[in-house]
Amino acid sequence: MTLENRVAVITGAAGGLGSVVTRDLAAQGARLALLGRSAERLESLKRDLALPEARLLIRTADLLNPSEAKSAAEAVTTKFGKIDILLHLVGGWTGGKTLTEVPAEDVTVMLDQHLWTTFHSVRAFLPEMVKNGWGRVVVVSSPFASRPAARGGPYAIGKAAQEALMLTLSQELKGSGVTANMLLVKSIDTKAERQTHPSPENASWTTPEELSAAILYLLSEETGTLNGARIPMYSGFKNNLPVSLRHREFFVLSLDRLVFFRWSTSLSIS
Ligand SMILES: NC(=O)c1ccc[n+]([C@@H]2O[C@H](COP(=O)([O-])OP(=O)(O)OC[C@H]3O[C@@H](n4cnc5c(N)ncnc54)[C@H](OP(=O)(O)O)[C@@H]3O)[C@@H](O)[C@H]2O)c1
Repeated sequence: MTLENRVAVITGAAGGLGSVVTRDLAAQGARLALLGRSAERLESLKRDLALPEARLLIRTADLLNPSEAKSAAEAVTTKFGKIDILLHLVGGWTGGKTLTEVPAEDVTVMLDQHLWTTFHSVRAFLPEMVKNGWGRVVVVSSPFASRPAARGGPYAIGKAAQEALMLTLSQELKGSGVTANMLLVKSIDTKAERQTHPSPENASWTTPEELSAAILYLLSEETGTLNGARIPMYSGFKNNLPVSLRHREFFVLSLDRLVFFRWSTSLSIS
């Protein structure tokens, strides 16, 4: 697989998942527009990537602000001439209080992080993809969006709103050549603790590398008809639905659809 002719916008690029995905897309030859709020973190990522200027745009933007999202999109098209991919990896978590204890502000913050940054990003970056008849929009959600846990209300509300946005988008994109899909994880295992300190708790976690491999698959030509999917990327989820992974292919039976993947790279998920 190569992404040599693709322009990818990665929001939250300097985050735990974003930095791994950015590295993998760079290795596939994509031209990258990397967004976040912290100039320092983006500069550090830029140093690590060491890409030629022609392949990289670094831009600070608070995606809660629609005009910042829009001017970032204009900067991307000015530099690269098009946009093919939006990986919206902005995140954040708050929890620990019941709905009667939690300050309303916590719900607002989670809706900001998960719903409103997605809303503004989609509206800024999508029109260019639709215009060109090809595109991929990918976000990472959580099983807690549809099966909330006690004391996790604000986060579940934020992710449920983001999922409703993405599912609406997938309906509106039918026949456009652009797809909108979600990967679902419980927890991202940024320190590879599932390997180094295995425990019942981290057995269901997903590494950034596993997620990045799934994202690369969603960016491929072969997934042009995969749209509106909620793809579970964690093990041990409720109902014990079968997840099997054998060498280069695996099946995932999710609650609402059967998804078949044929992988072009080796991947290991337990
Ligand atoms: N971590 C998990 O266990 C987990 C579980 C389920 C789903 N997810 C989802 O997976 C994705 C990646 O998660 P992660 O753990 O890699 O996140 P992370 O490490 O917390 O990084 C989040 C990134 O979002 C950026 N960001 C936050 N608010 C922003 C805003 N208003 N405008 C622009 N950028 C903003 C931050 O940039 P600055 O630092 O520059 O502000 C940061 O780089 C997120 O969508 C998250 O919801 C994560």
